[in-house]
Formats: sequence, structure tokens, C-alpha cells
Amino acid sequence: MIKLYKKFTDEELTARGLSREGLPRHVGLIMDGNGRWAKKRLMPRPAGHRAGMEAMKAAVRFSHSVGIEALTVYAFSTENWKRPQTEVSALFDLLAEYFYRDIDELDANNVRMTVLGDLSALSPKMRELLQRAVERTKDNTGLRFNVAINYGGRAEIVHAVRTLVESGAKPEYVTEDAISERLYTCGQPDPDVIIRTAGEQRLSNFLLWQAAYSEFVFTPVLFPDFDDAEYTNCIKEYMGRTRRFGKVL
Ligand code: IPE
Ligand code: IPE
Ligand code: MG
Repeated sequence: MIKLYKKFTDEELTARGLSREGLPRHVGLIMDGNGRWAKKRLMPRPAGHRAGMEAMKAAVRFSHSVGIEALTVYAFSTENWKRPQTEVSALFDLLAEYFYRDIDELDANNVRMTVLGDLSALSPKMRELLQRAVERTKDNTGLRFNVAINYGGRAEIVHAVRTLVESGAKPEYVTEDAISERLYTCGQPDPDVIIRTAGEQRLSNFLLWQAAYSEFVFTPVLFPDFDDAEYTNCIKEYMGRTRRFGKVL
């Protein structure tokens, strides 16, 4: 059965300590700690990734309910290929299972899915599955759900600059706007906040260019335990920040 996500009213937001005006438009989420979550339970690491997948689904639903415009999740980095082959396969199998099974639900909820990353290194089956999900949801107007797969911030910037150079751009055309327009996130606002779970306080090559003025919220909660209440806490922490963008306020 397809689950239809709820949209919170202003009162429902207030009841959670949130307010419509202060919400982030774009949330970046570094989903970390699946392995530690499994280890704590004496389970194999893929069991942690499976539990993480459920937490990711909940984060998509909650983002929709709250009224966030875009959610970008870090699912697989360009550095994650260095993990044991069995773990890499398990991760891709889980992602394939998710995109196969949940695309109907995403579509029914007006979610538009985008993939950030270099898909050419993925298996043809995985690539096709992702491309189909993107194509199927491309006209949806609700939550923008960006999934970063085989994504690296440095590789993304190199790719953008290379595209620009290949187009024959003269040096004066190499501008911030020209580069932004060639990133995978083209046309989307930069993330207002980047949340990282599991206590690690680093970007690990996530959205390097787009994070120029993002707020960072770190939580010790391991990703499989990242629920609506913890997501709410992170949004509240963001809402308490003062963003200056270099100005004197
Ligand atoms: C995050 O959990 C998932 C991916 C990086 C794909 P980890 O697998 O990094 O979990 P820890 O950091 O080892 O606990
Ligand atoms: C970052 O987590 C990548 C993803 C969440 C997909 P990692 O667990 O790979 O990052 P490091 O190795 O701790 O920096
Ligand atoms: Mg990790």
C-alpha cells in the first residue's frame, strides 16, 4: 500500500517548536554511523545500512511534512569505493531495492528525485534504475530529493570547470555563476544547513562548493536512530543560528 505523506499545518509546526518562516529551504544530510550502529548490536555492517535506509525514508517523509523544499542525502561517496567489495555490493543492492520499491510512493507524494554524482561508474542496471526514477518524477513539484551517489564535491567542481572549458569559454566567462550552473545541483538553492549524524564533524567531500555559507549541525545520534524527533532538534538548532553572510547585522 502506498503511503501518502502528511503536510503539517502552521499549528502542527508550532507544536514541534518550529515555525514556517525560519525553516531551511534546502537540507543536506550526511547519513553516517550505520556501521557503528550494527557493530553495537553485533550485527554485520549491511544490517546497519538496511536500518539506515529506513531512516532515510523517514527523513524524506518528514522533510515533506515540514515543508522543506529540497533534501540532499549523501548515500555513497567517491571515496566509499575503497570499502570492502562485499560492503560496496551490499550498499548498491540496498539502494537498488529502495529505488525499485519506493519510487511509486515518492511519485505519489509529488517528490522529484535527482541524482548527484557520476553515474558512469555504476552498473548498467543501477544506472538505468536511477535514470528511470529521475525521468518518472521530473515533472513533480513537491519535495526535491537529491540522492548523492558516487558523489564527490571536488570531482563535481572539476566536472563543472571541464564542461565550461570544453564549451570554449574565455577566461572572463569562468565565473561563480557559470560554475554553479554546471554543478549537479544547478538551479537549486544552496543548502541552508548540513546535518551530519554519528558525531563526526567533517564534510567528507560533500557539497564543497554549495556549502560556502551553510550552517552545520552535528548530532551524535547514529543514522539508523535518526528519527523525526532528532531531525526536529537539528532544524531547531539551525533556526537558532544567526546567518550573516559576511555582513554586519
Ligand atoms: C554511513 O554509515 C553510510 C555510508 C557511508 C554509505 P557508515 O558505513 O559510514 O557507518 P560508520 O561510520 O562506519 O559507523
Ligand atoms: C561520508 O561518510 C559518506 C557518506 C555518508 C555516504 P563516511 O563514513 O564515508 O566518511 P568518513 O570516511 O568518516 O570521512
Ligand atoms: Mg562513516
